[in-house]
Amino acid sequence: MAADPIHDDVDRVLLDEAQIHDKLTELGRRISADYAENPPILVGVLKGAVMVMADLARRIDLPVEMDWMAVSSYGSGTKSSGVVRILKDLGADITGRHVLIVEDIIDSGLTLKWLLANLRSRGAASVEVCALLRKPEAARVEIDVKYVGFDIPTEFVIGYGLDYAERYRNLPYVGVLKRSVYED
Ligand code: IMP
Ligand code: MG
Repeated sequence: MAADPIHDDVDRVLLDEAQIHDKLTELGRRISADYAENPPILVGVLKGAVMVMADLARRIDLPVEMDWMAVSSYGSGTKSSGVVRILKDLGADITGRHVLIVEDIIDSGLTLKWLLANLRSRGAASVEVCALLRKPEAARVEIDVKYVGFDIPTEFVIGYGLDYAERYRNLPYVGVLKRSVYED
């Protein structure tokens, strides 16, 4: 039987579907309690946060709004360029609003640091972050991440929204990409 080529490129599964969904249920409960008086506008960062947003939002028991931003910090490689550019801006005016940024992963933290400053400068009442994954390097930048799903090792991961050269986003789990896929 022919093997599924996208699963073939996975070295190992880091977080399976059940682990991800259990964690999002927990985060959804915390967010529902913390924002009970001030339902937030969820700002998903395209494209990686699409799965997190879809599954997290359904676990928040509040009338939230959802909006999206697209920023570029990575090319097709595996290292942060440090250069952030807005590819798609918010549709909503966030003046006076409670904003919760929904992210897939914090690696160097450069993208998030920039995004926090950008959204705060628009006069939001509050801006907090919910990220499914965080790598150790993120601890070196001074950003306060209110909700973190999992702290993971410094490895390039794919799946559940995360890509390598725009592939593997549709894997239902988070896996470590085989080094042979991106190294000679
Ligand atoms: P940072 O600016 O280095 O924190 O990286 C932020 C963005 O880079 C994330 O939102 C992801 O889109 C992407 N990224 C960072 N690490 C990985 C990874 O291991 N796999 C896939 N994408 C990643
Ligand atoms: Mg991202």
